[in-house]
Amino acid sequence: MAVINLNVNGKKQTMDVDPGTPLLWVLREHLGLVGTKYGCGIAQCGACTIHVNGAAVRSCSLPVSAAQNRVITTIEGLSENGEHPVQKAWLEQDVAQCGYCQTGQIMSAAALLKTNPNPTDAQIDNAMSGNICRCGTYLRIREAIKTAAAQK
Ligand code: FES
Ligand code: FES
Repeated sequence: MAVINLNVNGKKQTMDVDPGTPLLWVLREHLGLVGTKYGCGIAQCGACTIHVNGAAVRSCSLPVSAAQNRVITTIEGLSENGEHPVQKAWLEQDVAQCGYCQTGQIMSAAALLKTNPNPTDAQIDNAMSGNICRCGTYLRIREAIKTAAAQK
């Protein structure tokens, strides 16, 4: 066990935890931030995507010790009241079906638009290719990203 200091959604958090614990478990079990989901645990599905220093990262595969001294943002911290352009576009396009993958999709989309505010279809597909949706909402995801880009 070790004392770990994190900056999550603008709050400093200190905990005593095995430094090899995946960040996803710390977020969910220690901090109660259950908006981030567990899918595969091996960085293959994207359900657990969060932002680390603004970039999309698979939290299931990042040891908590490696997340120290970085800015961590989860879906709970993406916006105060769901008013991030990507969240608004998701509602407008009625993207979600079962919803399980959608946190990861939204976090990946938000990270994409930060670096590329007006992506092409190919760039969207490329950036989102690591986020699996078993319900097949891919076409609505692409439309919502375009909607969010237009809002920006
Ligand atoms: S749970 Fe992390 S990528 Fe699947
Ligand atoms: S909405 Fe069901 S898995 Fe994506």
